[in-house]
Amino acid sequence: MALALSSAPTFCHRVLALRSGHARRGIGQVAIDSRSSRKRSAPIVAAVQIGGVTLTREEVVRQDDPTNNVPDSVFSKIGLQLHRRPDHPLGILKNEIYSFFDEKFPAGLFRKFDDLSPVVSVKSNFDDVLVPPDHISRSYNDTYYVDGNTVLRCHTSAHQAQMLRDGLTHFLVTGDVYRRDAIDATHYPVFHQMEGFRVFSESEWKDTGLDGTDLAVKDLKETLEGLAKRLFGNVEMRWIDTYFPFTNPSFELEIFFKEKWLEVLGCGVTEQEILKSNGQSGKVAWAFGLGLERLAMVLFDIPDIRLFWTSDPRFTAQFKAGQLGTKFKPFSKYPPCYKDISFWITDAFTENNLCELVRDVAGDIAEEVSLIDQFTNKKGISSHCYRITYRSMERSLTDEEVNAIQ
Ligand code: DAH
Repeated sequence: MALALSSAPTFCHRVLALRSGHARRGIGQVAIDSRSSRKRSAPIVAAVQIGGVTLTREEVVRQDDPTNNVPDSVFSKIGLQLHRRPDHPLGILKNEIYSFFDEKFPAGLFRKFDDLSPVVSVKSNFDDVLVPPDHISRSYNDTYYVDGNTVLRCHTSAHQAQMLRDGLTHFLVTGDVYRRDAIDATHYPVFHQMEGFRVFSESEWKDTGLDGTDLAVKDLKETLEGLAKRLFGNVEMRWIDTYFPFTNPSFELEIFFKEKWLEVLGCGVTEQEILKSNGQSGKVAWAFGLGLERLAMVLFDIPDIRLFWTSDPRFTAQFKAGQLGTKFKPFSKYPPCYKDISFWITDAFTENNLCELVRDVAGDIAEEVSLIDQFTNKKGISSHCYRITYRSMERSLTDEEVNAIQ
């Protein structure tokens, strides 16, 4: 099911309502598993290095293990770390946010991490940030599991607790995050987030006339409004009350940009339980999380999320370190090729499984998968018809090659 944008927070209730429409798939129930006999266009590397940790393909992609649902197509993205390339739109945006924090606060006060391994425990990804045991984001339909206790992080909040245990009080964590999702111009199974965190001690609010929470809210809003101005200029902004498991109160910041309200980030005052459990009793903190693609698509006029992954120099050569907001000039829009596919479904069917199969077979030429028709027969068995849009960012596709894929 398509959400607003790839980086739309999974954890707010508005999104939850949409997501909960999915049938859940339990461990071992694989509705569509395409991993056995497919052709690969690009060879998969055997191992990647991230922050001194080696991740081997054998560890992360385990085709015979029913508690593992990571496909090769996703493993092949681990270690690319687009956000660490200074000339890439995601790297340019990350560095601009770093500069904002180093100018608003004493330079270096906020410690920056962008090289933490995306393979994390279920505990770090969910339990440590109080995601309820039955939350939809924990399902095998929504999250990539390496095994029953280990996932590819689905948000950078997965690192909050460890940072607090390490005694850090001001930090920014940027990284690639992984979610099973739909296929369209704004959804990709891998995208990038930045998490920000600031802890206050009692001495900081004692003489202000505010309590800790009020001070944190005030500072949070002031900081993030400043950040939004830095990125988008003098835009109109509004705060929306929302829900996240890890913060209370929780907010979303929206800006009025190009005639529309655009959600920029989620944030809030960290739940006391998180601080207490991780060695920061008596403190108050704020946190925020933002999706880099979501903002970069708007700031650089990038129309399709797949472009971030292309190595075509007609894309990559358009961006330079330090130049936020260069407008992307499309080199050409190649024609789409539409193919429909219909099939009977069982209760185990989910759109995310279908989309993963499509991506595994077609790779990045799969532009969109949309349900165009469905019916249920007299016996109660349902059929779905999907339209798959194929389009390359780099060349015209021939009907023969698309037919072969279809
Ligand atoms: N982790 C959230 C998500 O991916 C984003 C987020 C929201 C992070 C609020 C935060 C926060 O730290 O306070 O949907």
